[in-house]
Amino acid sequence: MKILFVGDVVGENGVNLLRKGLPELKKEYSCDICIVNGENSNESGTGMNSRDAQDIFACGADVITGGNHSMRRANMALYTENEFVLCPANLLYSEEGCGVATVDLGRHQIAVINLMGVAFIDNHRNPFFELDKILKNIDCKNIFVDFHAESTAEKQAFANYADGRVSAVIGTHTHVQTNDEKILPKGTAYITDAGAVCAENSVLGVQPQLAVEKQKYLKPVQFKVAEGPGYVDGVFVETDNQGKAVKIEKFRKFVKL
Ligand SMILES: [Fe+2]
Ligand SMILES: [Fe+2]
Repeated sequence: MKILFVGDVVGENGVNLLRKGLPELKKEYSCDICIVNGENSNESGTGMNSRDAQDIFACGADVITGGNHSMRRANMALYTENEFVLCPANLLYSEEGCGVATVDLGRHQIAVINLMGVAFIDNHRNPFFELDKILKNIDCKNIFVDFHAESTAEKQAFANYADGRVSAVIGTHTHVQTNDEKILPKGTAYITDAGAVCAENSVLGVQPQLAVEKQKYLKPVQFKVAEGPGYVDGVFVETDNQGKAVKIEKFRKFVKL
């Protein structure tokens, strides 16, 4: 199965970059399914509401994942009403099933799981135990995990814990694509972070001068999304008929607006 995953889409500018860049990427990789992290797709740069989710689906996503900002512009209804819009399964206040989607494509079935780390970020349920619980109820060979976390050590440890039990553990949240994509010994594809969809001239998608003010003076600054040309970051994962990863390739597609 050919799986295309796109990292955190930042703001309306990110959605515009996705709209322009995604169709070509989907064709290039002739993917069976496209998964996009939308936790920053709101015009404010944090959170996602139902209109933002519809925009991402219209760009070509089949499943949308989230993270620590999932509930900032929405309530649980967004995630209970659409089975293909996910928030992390281990949020203390999430409802059963909101972090897992099963997609039946006829020839292929895939379960998409969204989990959050707990190191240096919000303190939700332990993702290791949560994964065990979720996997007991999944009957698919292809299992994709968007692991939304801050700590590289937690991400790497989690991927090794999941190795051989899922097809891929793909990190999100830091908005910076890492250079460590690999297939773990038991067949799980892994990268610490898939990256983002945002303006090139930005700090993680935010206007640089505002990020400087916040970091220099530790002032509470109202972030604004940086606008202009940028890139669509992500990874392509291919699995065999047992759901083991046989290939992982990261990509960064530059897009002019
Ligand atoms: Fe993000
Ligand atoms: Fe995040």
